[in-house]
Amino acid sequence: MNKKYTLVANWKMQLPYNQAKELCSTYQQLNLTHNHTSTIVVCPSFETLSYAAQTLPQKGFSLGAQTCSTHKTGAYTGDVSAQSLAQLGCSYCIIGHSERRMHQGETSHDVATKMLRLLEHGIHPIICIGETEHEHHQGLTVHTLHEQLEPVIQALVHTTTHPTILIAYEPIWSIGSGNVPTRDYLTKIFTWLDQLCTTLMPNVRCKLLYGGSVDEKNSKDIASVDHVHGFLVGGASLDFQKFKNIVSLISE
Ligand code: PGA
Repeated sequence: MNKKYTLVANWKMQLPYNQAKELCSTYQQLNLTHNHTSTIVVCPSFETLSYAAQTLPQKGFSLGAQTCSTHKTGAYTGDVSAQSLAQLGCSYCIIGHSERRMHQGETSHDVATKMLRLLEHGIHPIICIGETEHEHHQGLTVHTLHEQLEPVIQALVHTTTHPTILIAYEPIWSIGSGNVPTRDYLTKIFTWLDQLCTTLMPNVRCKLLYGGSVDEKNSKDIASVDHVHGFLVGGASLDFQKFKNIVSLISE
């Protein structure tokens, strides 16, 4: 494949600390230092970041967090700042994941603020967007995605610094369900997304990812869809063999 892919492993809160450390060690079996075709980002939960920073980058992995604070610093108990993430070695951070929008009430305005915090510290934001099953059936997908991206577009419309952002399209009905949209559907959505980014954020380098039930069986096909430049992988990233297979498929 001649595209340069970014593969993001989102471990969510699936593993307690000791098991997450073990998975870091298992991932080290993959030596990516000669892999020039793809970027592999591992996003463990906060407590594992410093252990992951000592083990994974030497094998060619990049490190990412799963969220960050909207604030720069201050009396915000439990929050973790973008500055700390940068100091820990993170070069990526997932923001606006549907699970955080749903359970933590994260809004699209919060997402835009977090994005600016991250960019201030040279961290690439991975902005998650996606429609519910109901919105999907009502034909509201494009409307929902546009609405979720609006504050991001407003924040970057006049930028002159040419930042890189990643946008992960993750239909909520596809996450963890085994249901993946059809190729035609993905082509339509990614073509629309690409056009939106080029037109409304001309000075921003946008990389588009797909997320939702990605596994070793469907990744090659989805990777060949126009404008898809990588994946956000949940479940399959916890199974080393499956993850390794996805890495080799997109690195061919
Ligand atoms: P999944 O999760 O691959 O298990 O569907 C993806 C995600 O939530 O980022």
